[in-house]
Amino acid sequence: MAEWVRICGVAEAPAAGKVMEAEVNGIQICLANLNGELAALDNLCPHRQGPLGQGWIEGEAVICPWHSWAFNLKTGLAEYPAHERVEVFPVKTEGEDVLVEIDG
Ligand code: FES
Repeated sequence: MAEWVRICGVAEAPAAGKVMEAEVNGIQICLANLNGELAALDNLCPHRQGPLGQGWIEGEAVICPWHSWAFNLKTGLAEYPAHERVEVFPVKTEGEDVLVEIDG
């Protein structure tokens, strides 16, 4: 069943245009701030498990730091190459906490 889990404090969340890595319940998450809105993706790139949270944002996509695959932060769909995707997790802030919804 899906549940909301604290991923970090609001103060620790990435600033606009930045990404970071985090872990909740053993799941590695790429937490990104796209124009002031937080997005949470599976941190592991489907190419060779590169850490998306160590990448950077271009347009609406996070770029994998290893070989530059690009994943849309809202949909998880790859802008390059086609037909790839990563999971997107719903994310919200509640008081001082940032929460993501994951399968418990
Ligand atoms: S591991 Fe991400 S592009 Fe290769």
